[in-house]
Amino acid sequence: MTYELIVTSTEGPDSRQVGIVTLNRPKQLNALNNELMDELGSALKAFDADDSIGCIILTGSEKAFAAGADIGAMANYSFADVYNNDYITRNWEQIRSIRKPVIAAVSGFALGGGCELAMMCDFIIAADNARFGQPEIKLGIIPGAGGTQRLPRAVGKAKAMDLALTGRMMDAVEAERAGLVSRVVPLDKLMDEALGAALMICSYGQPSVFAAKEAVNRAFESSLSDGVMFERRLFHALFATEDQKEGMDAFVNKRKPEFKNR
Ligand code: HXC
Repeated sequence: MTYELIVTSTEGPDSRQVGIVTLNRPKQLNALNNELMDELGSALKAFDADDSIGCIILTGSEKAFAAGADIGAMANYSFADVYNNDYITRNWEQIRSIRKPVIAAVSGFALGGGCELAMMCDFIIAADNARFGQPEIKLGIIPGAGGTQRLPRAVGKAKAMDLALTGRMMDAVEAERAGLVSRVVPLDKLMDEALGAALMICSYGQPSVFAAKEAVNRAFESSLSDGVMFERRLFHALFATEDQKEGMDAFVNKRKPEFKNR
């Protein structure tokens, strides 16, 4: 499949590769329009369905992960346009249906929908030039792809309110301190760091990778006791896998495990 607004590639050994999606509208700082979001959804689904792919990285350019939804494209929409046709938001949640881990490797601006897109990924590794924000208030709107919901879950109410109401940006150091990003690295090390993490994930057994992702995500969708029960069911179920036998046997016998994803 050929794409116009994104670039896809793979890295790693043939057996277990990392799928990389690079947002590619450099002149518009990767502003997110319907076409780009359709391409992104297709690319993510294709990687998710490909048995040789174990983990996915979503990234942008040095200057911008994504500067938000395309303001020019939505400037003249009416309420009926956006509500009746679900314009802008209709294809934004596709990333949530991806079962394989998706790492956001963010450099430069991650604003508005760009910040929301990064937050839809499973975790964010940031370059030291990354800037995060929800500046929609400056445009007379509010975040529309989960920003008011995922940001407070990531950084708490005080900082989420601050960002949503003032529209200010936070830098990578503040974002890491607040818990929005898992690691901050120098810009020229961003892809190496993200690839290192992704290849490590690829080396583990897929059932436990899926289960870990599902269980952590459940923490944001349920009460503590329901979440703990969900985790316990998955934990018990993993004892039915060959990979659990392999992982523990390898540890006991001081050798490297060879997971079969079974
Ligand atoms: C369309 C955009 C854009 C955007 C930048 N550009 N952001 N085009 N939509 N979100 C375009 C500019 O118009 C400009 O095009 C080119 O990219 C370079 O941008 P500059 O502003 O010249 O760059 P700079 O001075 O470095 O400033 C960078 C910036 C600024 C701080 C990121 O561009 C900016 O504030 N952008 C808007 C950020 C924003 O408000 N995002 C939220 C959007 S609403 P030309 O043709 O002039 O060179 C949103 C809602 C989400 O995301 C809803 C989800 C469903």
